[in-house]
Amino acid sequence: MGKMFNSAIVEKFVGKETPFYYYDMGLLQQTLKSCKDASSKYGFHVHFAVKSNFNKRVLSAIKEIGFGADCVSGGEVSRAIETGFTNNDIVFAGVGKSDAEINLALDNDIFCFNVESVHELEVINELAGKKGKKASVAIRVNPNVDAHTHHYITTGLDENKFGVNSWDLPKIVDTLKASENIKFLGVHFHVGSQITDMNVFKSLCVKVNEIQQWFEERGVTVKVLNVGGGLGVDYHHPDEHSVADFETYFKIFNDFLEVKPHQEVHFELGRALVAQSASLITKVLYLKHGIKKDFVVVDAGMTELMRPALYQAYHKIENISYLDDQTKATKPYDVVGPICESSDCFGKEVELVEASRGDLIALRTAGAYGEVMASFYNLRPGIRSVYSDEL
Ligand code: LLP
Repeated sequence: MGKMFNSAIVEKFVGKETPFYYYDMGLLQQTLKSCKDASSKYGFHVHFAVKSNFNKRVLSAIKEIGFGADCVSGGEVSRAIETGFTNNDIVFAGVGKSDAEINLALDNDIFCFNVESVHELEVINELAGKKGKKASVAIRVNPNVDAHTHHYITTGLDENKFGVNSWDLPKIVDTLKASENIKFLGVHFHVGSQITDMNVFKSLCVKVNEIQQWFEERGVTVKVLNVGGGLGVDYHHPDEHSVADFETYFKIFNDFLEVKPHQEVHFELGRALVAQSASLITKVLYLKHGIKKDFVVVDAGMTELMRPALYQAYHKIENISYLDDQTKATKPYDVVGPICESSDCFGKEVELVEASRGDLIALRTAGAYGEVMASFYNLRPGIRSVYSDEL
């Protein structure tokens, strides 16, 4: 895949109100297709983690390719239904589902609830009973596997709030057996996000094998093995590695997961499907010469892209206003936004083509956990989006 930007594209940005998310719909298609091809080879099912991007155009593209939707709120379940995902393709996960959200999902006969505690299982059983329905569930098991990623996005360790810990599993089996309005589908895992060390997924497979056997030994048939998401992307080389390595990823599960003939393997990928396909485009407002450094003040802030402020996450930053001029000098800048917080900084000592007021700056790899995490802090105007096929 080539570069996301060239001067013809950037020319079309001129005059548009900034900041905005720019979606490269061709790259999105290519990414989805690559994932589809690699997963179908093994008959794996992919649900898209809607939390990573609930943009309607993005969701439509994902629905079209045939993936399901992994939702974590009533809002996401409704959005998935509005987009046209069929109820049988919708999974509802999350550690704190409200009664109203559970009822919404029951009313829509979704495929599966991913249940995170004994208590939640009891509540879903009760609410399903009131409706005269049977709720299909998978139990999210905390496998105590270290994802070797940022501690804020590690989820599969005993100390994390997610999933049922091993010592609670006997109670889960008892509750399942006593719950008339529950249909047990299988087990669910998710160990963390932005995982680039493929050994983590091998360790996960070993745990899944152990745990499914544990269930089967207790007379509980496991039909669905849901191994979650977490495949990372290359934030440092967005043009060179513009599509995640789905081939290697799915092959690991094919090689290391014990899948019996009656079982289905499910994935919940978010980031790897959408991150690379969007950039946040912002404009240089001011240049400021400090004593020790120079600042570029841009018109996007942590309100549009929260990841750098929240996780010190790296997003490649480029001045895209001089793509045809290779002779322009570069220099280091701190790239900061307009929000009244010191953490409102997209990057320190970023080597950029020398900037002027009005230049367009791209923050790359912003398609996952970008616009969905935007906020109205400082009464910001909300997110705008521009799509490559509508330019
Ligand atoms: N399944 C479950 C149960 C999850 O909690 C998540 C993400 C996913 C699937 C999708 O994971 P992915 O394939 O996108 O790695 N806001 C953070 C990431 C939070 C991830 C939350 N859970 C960030 O900006 O890096």
